Amino acid sequence: MDIIDKGNELCFDENLFIVSKTDTKGKITYGNDLFIDISGYSEGELIGAPHNILRHPDMPRAVFKLLWDRIQAGNEVFAYVKNRAKSGKFYWVHAYITPIIDSRKKEIIGYHSVRRSPNPKGIAIIEPLYQKMLSAEKSGGMQASMAVLETALSQLKVSYDAFILSYE
Ligand SMILES: Cc1cc2nc3c(=O)[nH]c(=O)nc-3n(C[C@H](O)[C@H](O)[C@H](O)COP(=O)(O)O)c2cc1C
Repeated sequence: MDIIDKGNELCFDENLFIVSKTDTKGKITYGNDLFIDISGYSEGELIGAPHNILRHPDMPRAVFKLLWDRIQAGNEVFAYVKNRAKSGKFYWVHAYITPIIDSRKKEIIGYHSVRRSPNPKGIAIIEPLYQKMLSAEKSGGMQASMAVLETALSQLKVSYDAFILSYE
């Protein structure tokens, strides 16, 4: 009952979290039951696989670049991500990704993602923005895509973080 099948889209209960962990390269090392169930893959297929196993072709590459730049620098990041289940169905998540730090060695040993069901108001803003970024990427590459995001943020006069968190 935790997952609602809406045809092409999968939704999940707003009180639940989809959790996964990766190594430093983005290979999956852990997933909670909801992560496994909604993905449609078995635990065996997921553990050890690169996290892009869930990548949806509608996602602009610039979002993942921003994400990796942030977490590799030791910072946290929030992002709306459209994922693709094994069945080809999609599900939107609002992800909070943080580095896992070995406090003794003071180095990053992996990453942790906790995802909630996103606010539909956020999706209504993000989806057309991602579409614009993706079409800019197709003609002008990642820089053009990033420029679309930066222009949108400067028009709204907000930082990326404030923007992503404004629909909570
Ligand atoms: C902890 C963690 C969680 C991630 N979760 C997702 C995810 O749910 N979906 C996704 O497409 N990429 C996720 N990524 C990003 C992927 O590693 C990858 O950068 C992305 O799918 C783009 O794939 P590509 O670099 O092969 O184009 C996650 C990365 C980390 C470190």
